[in-house]
Amino acid sequence: MTRRILIGANWKMNLSVGESSILLKKLHEVVRMHKNIDIVLAPNMLALQPLSVEADHRRFKMMAQNAHFKDEGACTGEVSMHMLRGVAQHVLIGHSERRAMFGDTLDVVRDKVAAAFRNGITPWLCVGETRPERLAGETKQVIHDQITTALSNLTAPEIAKMVIAYEPIWAIGCGVSALPEQATKAAKNIRHHIAELYGNDTAQEVRILYGASVNAGNARSMVEAEGIDGILVGGASLNHLEFADIIQAAYRSLHNLQAI
Ligand code: PGA
Repeated sequence: MTRRILIGANWKMNLSVGESSILLKKLHEVVRMHKNIDIVLAPNMLALQPLSVEADHRRFKMMAQNAHFKDEGACTGEVSMHMLRGVAQHVLIGHSERRAMFGDTLDVVRDKVAAAFRNGITPWLCVGETRPERLAGETKQVIHDQITTALSNLTAPEIAKMVIAYEPIWAIGCGVSALPEQATKAAKNIRHHIAELYGNDTAQEVRILYGASVNAGNARSMVEAEGIDGILVGGASLNHLEFADIIQAAYRSLHNLQAI
């Protein structure tokens, strides 16, 4: 089977609606369409709807950075997965910033993953350990707990369709990514847990990404890490030229081309 690379851009809480639209315009200018590379943009919730109309969907799919687990109700200030139908094809769930700052507990994350499937949206489950957890040798257990809870109400075919982003919290936003071997080890553990629970076929089908301080310099080594199917890019995705270089690095990797 031809290898595909999945690349996500998490713009986080940056850019006004107008600025988001300008960034999308610039991306249309510099990013070419590649057959085996899928690109998914996650602007802020306010910009998501207009950008979903402005985007060339052959090149860019849209992703929400979060959504509520209920479809409707008395939840002031929230947006539901149901409301994202027709606007976003993907949704980030359990990003470490949400787990740390906005009460996305293991159970909330599980309910959000279920809500995404209920509404036909592909969940990107983010997992990863803090630095103290890594230093205490708890990485495997932390990821195990995050995976087993989040997937507990799903069927094997659903799990096969989802995306899991390994995002070591100690490497997010600091400019220095984890080593490719560390990403490979985490991906192996994730597939191992899934294989135990849902069988080997499911474990092989689920797409596992690496995210944390990915930039144009390290993107190729991360997409080439064994067991890694793509990358989730934060800060570096806010610069259209750097993001285009990241996509180019993935393209060169797919086609075994030398870097220039
Ligand atoms: P970063 O963020 O690339 O800025 O480290 C990644 C993320 O949090 O998804």
